[in-house]
Amino acid sequence: MMERIHITDVAPRDGLQNQAVPVSTAQKLALVERLVAAGVNSVEITSFVSPKAVPQMADAAELLPQVLDRFGALRSSVLVPNLKGLERAHAAGAREIAVVLSATETMNRKNINMGLDEATAVSEQTLQAALALGLRTRAYVAVAFDCPFEGETPLERVIALSRRMAEAGAHEVVIADTIGAASPGMVKERLNALTQAMAADQLAVHFHDTRGMGAANAWAALEAGIRRFDASVGGIGGCPFAPGAAGNLATEDLVLLAERSGFSTGVSLPGLLQAIDLAQDVLQRPLGGRSMAWLRRQQAHARDGAKGATTR
Ligand code: COA
Ligand code: ZN
Repeated sequence: MMERIHITDVAPRDGLQNQAVPVSTAQKLALVERLVAAGVNSVEITSFVSPKAVPQMADAAELLPQVLDRFGALRSSVLVPNLKGLERAHAAGAREIAVVLSATETMNRKNINMGLDEATAVSEQTLQAALALGLRTRAYVAVAFDCPFEGETPLERVIALSRRMAEAGAHEVVIADTIGAASPGMVKERLNALTQAMAADQLAVHFHDTRGMGAANAWAALEAGIRRFDASVGGIGGCPFAPGAAGNLATEDLVLLAERSGFSTGVSLPGLLQAIDLAQDVLQRPLGGRSMAWLRRQQAHARDGAKGATTR
């Protein structure tokens, strides 16, 4: 049997948080619907953050209950930066939350207006409170490779913070290349060290494709034993507070890479193309990862083939 990898599509949160075009709650729901139809079983739906900081996520309390109502079996995670975010998420029915801790002082200040020590303590408290509520938990360790403000992030600090998040009860620690600066050699070195410090099954990775290395980095992570991946359909995404960040590793690139290399994902590429069609209509621009031109040609061949069959 093929080995399974687990994908969390973060398009509705990481993908949309920085988009200039306002996206309605109904459009976000429609995007989640297409992802579910494509076989995605874990989605990061939204974030309960300050609407002043991220206006695009202001409808979190309206969106989440509708998602939970419509897609009961879906793993629906939401990002919360503090206890207030957890409170709001819990009131909206959240079953899974993610805290976000950056591994450098400056990135925490820019992102959540806290220093590293305060952000670590707040993340721990938020995780513990979420566990007490019976929620499933993830903890992002952001800028785990390079920081846009401080350069290369010390590996020992990434390991120490990851362990603290796991000890505070994070079910999954997400090692994030927030600005897409990692390369496969660095991914290999860091993940080999992290899997010495904690169980590979407790770790997930979150890559951005700024330098065209998202898929290569995903392969390095697979080789290091990681089986949990974040990705964003169409490659949309990026943190508004991290200068230079581009879109996430595209879900379609990850699925293609994994399935062609002997792993199963449960996700259908034609289904993802339907989700991308919808996202393109909403964002009014062409989307798609590195494999997009080839995937569209395959789609056109399949369509022509089907037409041929019906006219014959
Ligand atoms: N959701 C909604 N509102 C929140 C909130 C949350 N999770 N946390 C705090 N607030 C509100 C406070 O109630 C207060 O409101 P008021 O001005 O009406 O009184 C206001 O925000 C300021 O509160 P304060 O605790 O001083 O927060 P801050 O200004 O230092 O901002 C964060 C801290 C974390 C709320 C803010 O930086 C943030 O939301 N960051 C999100 C960053 C993000 O999403 N990044 C991308 C993903 S990694
Ligand atoms: Zn991201």
